[in-house]
Amino acid sequence: QHIVILISGTGSNMAAIVQAAERERWAERLSARVTAVISNRPQAPGLALARDAGLATHVVDHQAYASREAFDAALGDAIEQHAPALVVLAGFMRILTPGFVARFDGRLINIHPSLLPAFTGLHTHQRAIDMGCRFAGATVHRVTAELDHGDILDQAVVPVLPGDSAATLGARVLSQEHLLYPRAIAAWLQEQGG
Ligand code: GRF
Repeated sequence: QHIVILISGTGSNMAAIVQAAERERWAERLSARVTAVISNRPQAPGLALARDAGLATHVVDHQAYASREAFDAALGDAIEQHAPALVVLAGFMRILTPGFVARFDGRLINIHPSLLPAFTGLHTHQRAIDMGCRFAGATVHRVTAELDHGDILDQAVVPVLPGDSAATLGARVLSQEHLLYPRAIAAWLQEQGG
């Protein structure tokens, strides 16, 4: 089962997934491996991390396409080259068209830095602090055409501490994302009979 990971930036979740796959021997245990990493930003630091890990990388630059539909078609073609069983959005910061979501229906998952269904969209940590939340976290969910909706596959919870800023809370959540995402993917692969 091939896994393709889509990124836009740092790629720390991507790196955590690649490391877990190695450490937990997904190739032997789940017949699964990360095949490629695709970024919509040519300068994404995560691309270098992926290359260092020996993975195929591609850039599909959204700025080179006149419409979301054209970008999504090119992105989808780049993904399909690898015939993935699972497409993992890991800090991929583009809204995907319903056509793209339908093309990868049932094999598209995302991580979002909040306890969904609370705080869809951006600035999740500041919004959780502003609302006085005592807990924050991250959610792995199936991707549907509606942003940050879709069935929840797994979540991680962290406390919001007195004096937290969006940066300190975000770092606490991100460190849990690095455990959560590999765990959710391994469970998904296992469920597929891997
Ligand atoms: C993570 O917080 C993820 O939940 C959000 O974007 C961030 C990506 O970080 N969607 P990284 O690129 O994986 O380091």
